[in-house]
Amino acid sequence: MNLIFLGAPGAGKGTQAEVVSEALNIPQISTGNILREAAKNGTEYGLKAKAAMDAGALVSDDIVIGILKERIAEDDCQNGFILDGFPRTVPQAEALDAMNIKIDKVIEIAVPDETIKQRVSGRRVCEGCGASYHIEYKPSKVEGTCDKCGGNTVIRKDDQPETVLERLAVYHEKTAPLKDYYGKQGKLVTVEGQEEVADTSKLTLAAVKA
Ligand code: AP5
Repeated sequence: MNLIFLGAPGAGKGTQAEVVSEALNIPQISTGNILREAAKNGTEYGLKAKAAMDAGALVSDDIVIGILKERIAEDDCQNGFILDGFPRTVPQAEALDAMNIKIDKVIEIAVPDETIKQRVSGRRVCEGCGASYHIEYKPSKVEGTCDKCGGNTVIRKDDQPETVLERLAVYHEKTAPLKDYYGKQGKLVTVEGQEEVADTSKLTLAAVKA
């Protein structure tokens, strides 16, 4: 099954993509994580991407489309994959269609902006493997340490309050039109994000399996 997870920054699409990835045993492809890793390693495109990401802007379509093409050609994507954070613009969605890859469903995790601002302030991410936590809703077992790899968990640079506002504005302008794009293809399913992660996960899994 090939799925896309859509949602405003901090709505919980990464959290839900991870749940579905484990349930269906297909890889979760987070373009955000791939770009952060490239930035950390100082690759040519990573350095270009870093400036945009730190400002809350989108990385250019050509860079992200190139990354995505390479990633979904890998062996672990043969039986399906979850795109977490791609596409994010109509040209990216058109590029995906042009690759002749059949997308089964687009799951939108819908959460009001006010809730998002509150959630993102409590997020912590692992410097080592990119795993995501929340100090209140999804704490790591040992504060400041990743459950998965033992790395340090830190506040993401683009989770500063003013950058979050910019990311939300960019989402509404550039990414939200994808709801209409995939709605017209009959693929969009909206899941209302709940207060508890586990409650959203139940609704998400039901939407995927329906
Ligand atoms: P990316 O890493 O994709 O960031 P994002 O879309 O801004 O998404 P987030 O990771 O912030 O949110 P999420 O919805 O996954 O939320 P999460 O599950 O973590 O991209 C980063 C940057 O990379 C972009 O700004 C852009 O510059 C660039 N980029 C990436 N892809 C690109 C593309 N295709 N084109 C161009 N540029 C691209 O949840 C958030 C927090 O809330 C967590 O702490 C979580 O534990 C908590 N939480 C989740 N669900 C609940 C719940 N139900 N109740 C309470 N807390 C919850």
